[in-house]
Amino acid sequence: MKLRWKSLPFRISLIFLLTTLLIEGVLFLLLYHTLLGERVTEEINRLESRAESHSHVLSSSFTQETISHVAAMESETDTKVAITSSDQRVLKTSAQFPEALSDLVRMDAVSGKTDQTVVIDDDWENRPYLAVRTPIVSGEESLDGYVYMFLPTEIIHGISHRLQFRFLYITGVALIITIATFVLLSRLISNPIRLLRRATEDVLKNPEELRLPTSREDEIGELARSIESMSLELARLRKERNRFLSDLAHEIKTPLTYLRGYAEIASKPGTPPALKKQSIQTILEESQALTEMVENAFQLAQLDENTFTLHRQNVRGDELCHDLERLLSNMFRVTAIRFLSRADCPRQDVLLDLDRDRILQVFRSIAHNAIEHSEANQVTFDVTLRDDGLEYIIADDGKGIPEQDLPHIFDRLYRVEKSRSRLTGGSGLGLAIADQIVRLHGGKLTAQSDGESYTTFIVFLPYTSRTPFV
Ligand SMILES: Nc1ncnc2c1ncn2[C@@H]1O[C@H](COP(=O)(O)OP(=O)(O)O)[C@@H](O)[C@H]1O
Ligand SMILES: [Mg+2]
Repeated sequence: MKLRWKSLPFRISLIFLLTTLLIEGVLFLLLYHTLLGERVTEEINRLESRAESHSHVLSSSFTQETISHVAAMESETDTKVAITSSDQRVLKTSAQFPEALSDLVRMDAVSGKTDQTVVIDDDWENRPYLAVRTPIVSGEESLDGYVYMFLPTEIIHGISHRLQFRFLYITGVALIITIATFVLLSRLISNPIRLLRRATEDVLKNPEELRLPTSREDEIGELARSIESMSLELARLRKERNRFLSDLAHEIKTPLTYLRGYAEIASKPGTPPALKKQSIQTILEESQALTEMVENAFQLAQLDENTFTLHRQNVRGDELCHDLERLLSNMFRVTAIRFLSRADCPRQDVLLDLDRDRILQVFRSIAHNAIEHSEANQVTFDVTLRDDGLEYIIADDGKGIPEQDLPHIFDRLYRVEKSRSRLTGGSGLGLAIADQIVRLHGGKLTAQSDGESYTTFIVFLPYTSRTPFV
């Protein structure tokens, strides 16, 4: 495993280590000072009480024998004792009494209250001995001398060292735990993430052959699953795009062939003027159809890329209804189809947020299809107010759309009757575009037909608010 400084496990482990050390350090300092402080006080108290009990014995019998006895008693212990006269002349000490302590006794300036036990030295950190002094006072309140007692501070230093050692020991354990955490986190987090990253690098090359740990029940599994569904969607889109492109190329090829054929006829010197004129007319029509198709394809590409901008504005339901009535009746006026509106426009007292021109384009496409494909005698228009939007219904009594074709009419380049549609110049993109535009508005475009006697298109558009205008 490579140790990478900026990796997630490394950072988490480092935070873990620092936190542990911080907590441990604070605890250690607290413990160190409290424990040692208490221990020093305890030792000094013991030293004082021992000195006092010696002084008690000596005050009742300040003889050479008792003095020797006391000194001999202390020779058995860690503590040292010195018994002095009232002018601090050392009378007797315990065995192996260091010279430094004798000097200390000699230099000890007795001042203030001489009739009490006094701590001469409690600086355990810098001095080799803790020291106390107790006066020896006999019955008549006369000062016979002093008992000096000393405790080597080694013991306390020993405790201090043991605590420090324990601190180091815990630090070591924390380090080991940190390393273990690092290894564990790397296994649990880094490795799967790295695996995912490598897999996603392959997504672009081969989205269908992605192998990811999707069965895991944690966040990694979730991520893997969403990457997988993303890549499947990518594969689907790619396939769709490729199909669309090859279909489009095919669609464009046909009018181009016609253009060339008629251009050749028109340019031949022997062509009669009437045929020439007709050829040029066909060339014009074909090139117009071609332009339209390219424009439609361009619009679809924009819709796909989300670069298709809607110029939304607040539109009153009643006004839109009137506009649609006018648009449709104008379109059907020049045909043999009768147009009938059943819409009660003034009742549409709602506000819609939409791109008016784009929505008119949708209705124009639907009406255009009725004119081109339906063979209907009559087309009706109606509007229904629903809970959350408006439903516009355009129904014709034409030949209908076969059941098997109905689900596909919104697909790109899909036409029910390829040859007939070609004659009418349709490219099969109109409804695909209309569907996308309605979707962009948060609405829905649906078609119904029995395949023989009618076709109905329903455009649902959500409204922003129900505002009473009247
Ligand atoms: N009112 C209708 N009656 C019968 N067929 C229709 C009707 N509207 C649409 N269609 C069918 O749906 C197909 C797709 O329509 P569209 O996407 O507008 O393409 P285009 O009009 O360019 O052929 C048409 O080719 C036609 O076969
Ligand atoms: Mg059409």
